Amino acid sequence: MSQALYRKWRPGRWDEIIGQQHIVQTIHNAVSAGREGHAYLFAGPRGTGKTSLARILAKAVNCKNEDIGNRPCDECDHCRSVSAGTFLDLIEIDAASNTSVEDVRNLRDKINFSPNQGRYKVYIIDEVHMLSTAAFNALLKTLEEPPPHAIFILATTEVHKIPLTVLSRCQRHEFRRIPVNDIVGLLKKISQEEGMEPEEEALQLVARQATGGMRDAISLLDQLSATGKKISLETAQTILGTATNQAVLDLVDAILTGDAGGGLNKLHTTLDNGSDPRQFSRQIVNYLRKVMLVRLGNADQVDTTAETRQVMAKHANGFESSEILRIIRVFNHAAVDARGSWQPSLPLELAFVEAIEAPVQLSSNPAKKAPQAVSKPASEPVKQAVNKAVKEQENSPEASVEVQESSQMTREQWAGLLEVVKKPSPNTRGLLNSCKTNTLRNGVLLLGFPSQLLKEKMEQPEHLSVVKDAAEKIFEMPIQIECAIVASGQGALPPQVDNSGMVATGVRLGGEIVDVNNLKTKDKDSE
Ligand SMILES: Nc1ncnc2c1ncn2[C@@H]1O[C@H](COP(=O)(O)OP(=O)(O)O)[C@@H](O)[C@H]1O
Ligand SMILES: [Mg+2]
Ligand SMILES: [Zn+2]
Repeated sequence: MSQALYRKWRPGRWDEIIGQQHIVQTIHNAVSAGREGHAYLFAGPRGTGKTSLARILAKAVNCKNEDIGNRPCDECDHCRSVSAGTFLDLIEIDAASNTSVEDVRNLRDKINFSPNQGRYKVYIIDEVHMLSTAAFNALLKTLEEPPPHAIFILATTEVHKIPLTVLSRCQRHEFRRIPVNDIVGLLKKISQEEGMEPEEEALQLVARQATGGMRDAISLLDQLSATGKKISLETAQTILGTATNQAVLDLVDAILTGDAGGGLNKLHTTLDNGSDPRQFSRQIVNYLRKVMLVRLGNADQVDTTAETRQVMAKHANGFESSEILRIIRVFNHAAVDARGSWQPSLPLELAFVEAIEAPVQLSSNPAKKAPQAVSKPASEPVKQAVNKAVKEQENSPEASVEVQESSQMTREQWAGLLEVVKKPSPNTRGLLNSCKTNTLRNGVLLLGFPSQLLKEKMEQPEHLSVVKDAAEKIFEMPIQIECAIVASGQGALPPQVDNSGMVATGVRLGGEIVDVNNLKTKDKDSE
């Protein structure tokens, strides 16, 4: 494993600390004039640069560079050894794990020895608010009369827990949350040097999400970079879980317009990127609750952005109140449904299908495109087909696709493939779970995925080769793997089945069409 990105990017010099100019300036000036203090208190939220600045200060007062204004040089052996964490005269203590009075006494005993290598012994006491009262008192004695060769830097995220007696002995500096634009600026620089290609909006999102903490921002970027070189806003949204907002809006949109295929795609992309299905269901319920409030004329009780408010208004006008209530109930059910242990997304998928089943449209809104096949009440055979489809999915964890067409893999073959893949690569197995169609033709196994993201994931060589090996084992012949996106208009549906209808939905959920001809005739009859 490579080093965490935020460690690699720890500022080494004064000007590399961003967003804390007021503090950096003050301390830098004092050090340059040889007027460094003996006790500092750095207070502020986590990941804003307290430890980083403390180490820069430790470097500066021990740097061997002749030019005092140029310390720390970050090049001499003292500077380097501070960066490497091997400098003997920099002692870092985590108060969270050394809270006792003995620990502090220990420290006091050692403090009277002169520095080993440098001019100053620098003590950084992190999370200093965790010290016990006795330990604070012991520390206080040291702070009252620090030996001339010692510098104390206390750091804390909870300055209100520090006794006044200690506060009054220290030069106090308050670290601020770092403004979004400054965070974005540094993230850009880091991504450039690390060879990442994030979209500007993705970085904006990361920066907002980090709420002023640079460490969190870099860690989030680190996390996103695992998905690949290019980082789109959409990827960032899904992975950071804020997707929810957009994904929830899209899903409700899909219900409103009767777009089953689009809605299911959205759902799968969101889940495949790590959102928890129950959590996602809860977010849908929360959103619809707000839509309800808006519809009932209580928009002022809804706390949201202007953008979301617009969409919310559209949704509030698009559904009848009773319809919103019905959909809330359906998703609320999915939010508490524990059935999906082997197939955690199932309750959510079912809820979506149920929600989209018969949206009651407001007649006062004629401009809206009428939903296609799903708008009319489903005929009995269609209902049966879907019920069966859903049952199949519930009962057979391994059945990802089963449509009776000679070129599709049989259920046994598919199950076998999943089994063979699982051993060398559980991740590949997981990816195959979201595979919607498989077609074997002339030695080419075509896998259909609901989104570009998943398709691209599967196309990574490490996944492809595992599937290829497994398929060749099962079919006992050379096989080439190809991946495709199964858009709502495609998929392995017989031509007479409406793409956006309930049968199509059932099939996409992994269902099986039992009797195509009967279905067709009856469907026509009911028109
Ligand atoms: N002000 C800052 N400027 C640049 N990078 C920062 C800043 N604050 C934090 N970081 C980044 O976050 C990491 C952790 O910061 P650190 O100084 O340990 O935060 P704190 O001690 O306030 O929790 C650093 O290695 C660096 O990558
Ligand atoms: Mg720290
Ligand atoms: Zn130096």
